[in-house]
Amino acid sequence: MCSIIGYYGDGLAAPILVKGLKRMEYRGYDSVGVATETGNEISVKKGVGKVSEVNNALHLDAMLGNVGIGHTRWATHGNVTDANAHPHPSSSGKIAIVHNGIIDNYGELKSDLEKRGYVFKSQTDSEVIANLLQFNFDEVHDIKSAMMRTVSKLKGHYAFVAMFQNGTLAAARYHEPLIVGIGKNGYFMSSDVLGFIEKTDDAIYLDNGELVVLDQVGIHIFNFEGIPVKHQITKVSKEFADVYKGDYAHFTLKEISEQPETVIQAGEKSKAAIDSVTDVLKHAKNIYITGSGTSYNAALVAKYLWQKYAKIKAEPIISSEVFFAPDTIEPNSILVAVSQSGESADVLEAVNIAKKSNSKILAIVNTLTSSLAQESSLVIGMNCGPEIGVAATKSFTAQLSIIYKITEKLCDGCIKLDSRKISESIAKILEDHSKIKEIAKELREISDIYILGRGVHYPIAAESALKLKELTYIHAEGIPGGELKHGPLALMDSSVYVIIINPNDFTYNDTLTSAREIKARGAKIIGISDKPSDVYDHWIEIPAIDEALYPLIEIIPIQLLAYYAAIEKDTDPDYPRNLAKSVTVK
Ligand code: AGP
Repeated sequence: MCSIIGYYGDGLAAPILVKGLKRMEYRGYDSVGVATETGNEISVKKGVGKVSEVNNALHLDAMLGNVGIGHTRWATHGNVTDANAHPHPSSSGKIAIVHNGIIDNYGELKSDLEKRGYVFKSQTDSEVIANLLQFNFDEVHDIKSAMMRTVSKLKGHYAFVAMFQNGTLAAARYHEPLIVGIGKNGYFMSSDVLGFIEKTDDAIYLDNGELVVLDQVGIHIFNFEGIPVKHQITKVSKEFADVYKGDYAHFTLKEISEQPETVIQAGEKSKAAIDSVTDVLKHAKNIYITGSGTSYNAALVAKYLWQKYAKIKAEPIISSEVFFAPDTIEPNSILVAVSQSGESADVLEAVNIAKKSNSKILAIVNTLTSSLAQESSLVIGMNCGPEIGVAATKSFTAQLSIIYKITEKLCDGCIKLDSRKISESIAKILEDHSKIKEIAKELREISDIYILGRGVHYPIAAESALKLKELTYIHAEGIPGGELKHGPLALMDSSVYVIIINPNDFTYNDTLTSAREIKARGAKIIGISDKPSDVYDHWIEIPAIDEALYPLIEIIPIQLLAYYAAIEKDTDPDYPRNLAKSVTVK
């Protein structure tokens, strides 16, 4: 989604804001803008493009002033245009705001303000905050009261930072992240610690329903009723600072390549939580497991493993579906919520619904300071470091590693996760990219690709399809092998590529038969297997390992294939069009 940032301090605001925005660009990236204050005047510069493009064109980082706000936008309301980019000044230009989230009642607020003479220059819902705040400030002439009046009228979910003409900053948080950074020479307000981590590791995580006013006197935090709130300062882990690509061409490639380490680290700092979660699951009446996108695919793997090895049933539910079938979650159940960011709105909504029926929330999450971690009674940290590429790669195998660790405990060691062995196998696959690069060239012109897997390999097929869609924009579909003859076989002809996930386990022979049926219709076959076959037009070899553990390694060549096909198609693998890393809106 969008990222917002504000700075108030001794330094020049604009270069600090631009740097912070660059680090948070993964959250949303169709347009960028900065506003600063000098001599009781607010200046705004904004435009369509990436931070570096807009900065090169408009010299955002050369703007003067020690106070400022900045924004990267991922469009929800209104097209991607300069006018719709943030910051949005109020009609009079005396206040400017940056906003993340959605204002549900912006239509009625806007027409009310228009009747009062306020002029709107964008199609966004956000601009209404600027004018509503201006209206309230003109009525009460006090920033705190104007903020309280404003938030009492807003419906939806939001975090916003407002800059007043006198250089005071004010902010509000309601179901969107907002973190205050406390530096030696200035304060920050940001959607993510990455916005200020280079300057300070002291942070205050605001709660929902809190306001901040930042002026010459210092920082003041209140709840929406205006009562002062005290917060502890949290030391943010320095590992967050590690968000550079190094020698890699893209974050996505860097993150794929980190997996030999991250599968070992996964859950390492949460051993006690893994024990407790296992205990809770063993005694639970009903278990549900939820997530979105890649995290949902990991949830599907959990369902297979816990059922097969521990005889424990967990029902997977796509997070965004929970709202439409809230009774699916029986009262007093366990909901396992899987999320890299811990900020996906759909996941948080599912958690909210489950909590209302007295269910306990167990989280598998990468960002330990996230809303999901705060909402959960037990938290297992994925511990794979920041994932910047929009496509989830190392976070998926970290999620799987944790699910395997839980399975191992649930079934009293009936399967063994040898993380070192898995790490070596992944390293082996990553050793030589040349064959995958060659295959990627063939995918340049195709429009459809299917991925087949049976049993526990079906969720990996679904995850493979998601990676190929996101990174290459090729239509991709994961198919449970046995379903082929119930419909998809009609699609098979010589224009189609099919990836067969076929490790040498109990699914091997059936899946090979499916491959032959497809081949007979002229489609090209890419086999992912430890065993060669004449049916494969291309064989991507994976090492032979304990058969229970194949899902942990078989996704790696497909991540690489999707990455290199994106390069062939000249799309940006780190920032696929129309997508954002954390989907914090419904
Ligand atoms: C994965 O490649 C996607 N970018 C997306 O499906 C993602 O997994 C999903 O939005 C869930 O995100 P989360 O794990 O941060 O909740």
